[in-house]
Amino acid sequence: MRGKLVVGNWKMNGSLRQNDALLADLRSGWTATPSRRIAICVPFPYLWQAQAALAGSALDWGAQNVSEHASGAFTGEVAAAMVAEFGSRMAIVGHSERRALYGETDATVANKAAAALAAGLTPIVCVGETLAEREASATDAVVLRQLDAVVALLGARLAQAVVAYEPVWAIGTGRTATPQQAEAVHGLLRRRLRTAVGEAADDMLLLYGGSVKADNAKTLFACANIDGGLVGGASLKADEFLAIARA
Ligand code: PGA
Repeated sequence: MRGKLVVGNWKMNGSLRQNDALLADLRSGWTATPSRRIAICVPFPYLWQAQAALAGSALDWGAQNVSEHASGAFTGEVAAAMVAEFGSRMAIVGHSERRALYGETDATVANKAAAALAAGLTPIVCVGETLAEREASATDAVVLRQLDAVVALLGARLAQAVVAYEPVWAIGTGRTATPQQAEAVHGLLRRRLRTAVGEAADDMLLLYGGSVKADNAKTLFACANIDGGLVGGASLKADEFLAIARA
């Protein structure tokens, strides 16, 4: 039986002072059960702060990106092994903002997923179509192309990853995919994962992301192939984020 996972993506938000309050509220407000977990992905400089505040708690933490390289002359990059040193359990890779604003290709994203796994982190591999792609009926082709690049590199190791479907048109826009729209894509991804990793695909967590809020989380998370959410804006407020996680 798959559990549920809700991951907060802080994006480039926060300050030492703001984080202290948010982390304390999350820690005191959350009791995990084996079937319900939450985590936050914070900016790199705050990994130590998340570790200090959350160690021994029911919350996990991680990063929003990692380098595809292990070490070396890559100025400004951060290796997955460095992220892991701060007790991180996971790293988001291939978020649509990285793909669109920083030119990350399907191949780069696959390499980053491999780098995360090699460092002992769970990669949260993001896929999702733009509004233009959806309107051109290209949603299935786009998300499968993005997933297949990771399948091709990782093979059966992909079973250790989490996959997040985030339609680009729903991110930060207040427009959420309907449960039907989201479940259709999640079902498609699950079927593709079965051909890639076999029965292990049934234990993989598939998250939905894009304007998830406390008031729409319940219907989304009730879908057969939606195992939780990747939450941006609403993860910056402890009450809202915990309400989503309880949904
Ligand atoms: P949002 O962002 O919840 O603010 O739409 C989700 C994401 O980008 O992961």
